[in-house]
Amino acid sequence: MSYELDTVCIHGKGKRKDVENTGSISFPIYQTAAYAHPEVGRSTGYDYTRLQNPTREEVERIMADLEHGVDALAFSTGMAAINALMELFSPGDHIISTDDLYGGTIRQFNFINEKNGLTFTYLDTSDLEAIEAAIGENTKAIYIETPTNPMMQVTDIQAVSEIAKKHSCLLFVDNTFLTPYYQNPLDLGADVVIHSATKYLEGHNDTLGGFLITNQDSIAERLRFVIKTTGAGLAPFDSWLILRGIKTLSVRMEKHQQNAFLIADWLEKQDKVKGVYYAGLPGHKGLAISKKQSRGYGGMISFHVDSKETAEKILKNVKLIYFAESLGGTESLITYPLTQTHAEVPEEIRKAKGIDETLLRMSVGIENPEDIIADLDQAINK
Ligand SMILES: Cc1ncc(COP(=O)(O)O)c(C=O)c1O
Repeated sequence: MSYELDTVCIHGKGKRKDVENTGSISFPIYQTAAYAHPEVGRSTGYDYTRLQNPTREEVERIMADLEHGVDALAFSTGMAAINALMELFSPGDHIISTDDLYGGTIRQFNFINEKNGLTFTYLDTSDLEAIEAAIGENTKAIYIETPTNPMMQVTDIQAVSEIAKKHSCLLFVDNTFLTPYYQNPLDLGADVVIHSATKYLEGHNDTLGGFLITNQDSIAERLRFVIKTTGAGLAPFDSWLILRGIKTLSVRMEKHQQNAFLIADWLEKQDKVKGVYYAGLPGHKGLAISKKQSRGYGGMISFHVDSKETAEKILKNVKLIYFAESLGGTESLITYPLTQTHAEVPEEIRKAKGIDETLLRMSVGIENPEDIIADLDQAINK
C-alpha cells in the first residue's frame, strides 16, 4: 500500500520496526546508554546508544520516507548535522554556497571548516551562470538554502543539480524552511538534504535536532561512520519529541502558510513597511521556480521597515509575538537578523543582501491570524 504525505508523517511508508510487543501506539522511548548481550559473540543488534537506539531509528525511518531517501541520520542539532556533512571533505576541497544563508552555517564554514583546510565561495545561487563560473578543479560541492534565510530568494534546485552533476560535485540542500511537506530536494537531483529539526519538524519551540538524508548508500555509509565516531547523534527523548512533532507537520504547515499569506498581504499595505519578502507573493522573483519545484511556500516572511526606530519599536512593543531568534514553532516569533541570526555574517555580504537595521524576519505561528495582525498593528502603527 502506498500512503499520502500526511499519512507518511504519522506512520512512515511501511511498518515500524518490531522491537516490542505491547501494542503501544506511541513509539517507546528507549532511554538507555547500553544494551545487555545474551552471550559472547551474540548481540540483540543493539550495543550502545551512540551506535544504535530504537527511538532514534524510528524518527530516522520517518524522515527517510518523507524526504524519499535511503537513509536519514538524526543529530543533536542542525549545526551538528552540517558539521558532520563537512567531514565528507578533505583539506584543499572547495565548496560553493548560497551567500544568503543561515548565519550559524556561515560561521561554521568560515571559522571551523576553513581552519581545517576547506575553502568557500559565497554567491547568489539563483544566478546559474555565477555558479558555473565559480567552479574550479577542486570544487567538490554546492550548498544551497532555498528559500534563503532571511531574504527568501529561490534557487532552481534541478538546474543547479545539472551543473553539479556536469562537474562531478555533490549538491546539498538545506530544506529547513519548506520541510518535506512542501519540497523534496532529492527528487530534484540533490545528494543530501539537511534539516534543522528544531524548527518546523519538531514544531513546538522546545527541542533541538537535525537531520541529514541521502538517496545514495555510499554517502549514507560514510555519514554513518562520521556520526558513530564523532557522537553527535540525537538523544532518545529528543528523538521521541521530534517523532511526535512530525505527526502534526501536515496540519501545522498548512496553517503556517495560510497565516503567512494573510500577514504578508497585510504588511504590504502598511505605510511604514517598505518591502515584504515571502516566497508565495505574486510579485516574488522566484515564484515560477517555486511553483515548479515546491508544493507550498511555508511560513517565513521578512520585511524592511522605514527606519531603525520603527524596527526597534516593533521589537519592543509586540505582546503576543515573541522577539526571539528561532522559527518554525506554533508560536509566532519575530527576529532582528542584524544582531541575532546573521550577526556574524561578514558585513559586505550582509549589506549586499539588505540585511540591515531596518530588516525584520517573522516566523508566522499558528495562532489566530487576526490576533497576530492586531499585535503587529499595535506594534507598528500605535
Ligand atoms: C536554515 C537553518 N539551517 C540550520 C540551522 C541550524 O540548526 P540548529 O539551530 O538546530 O543547530 C538553522 C538554525 O536557525 C537554520 O535556520
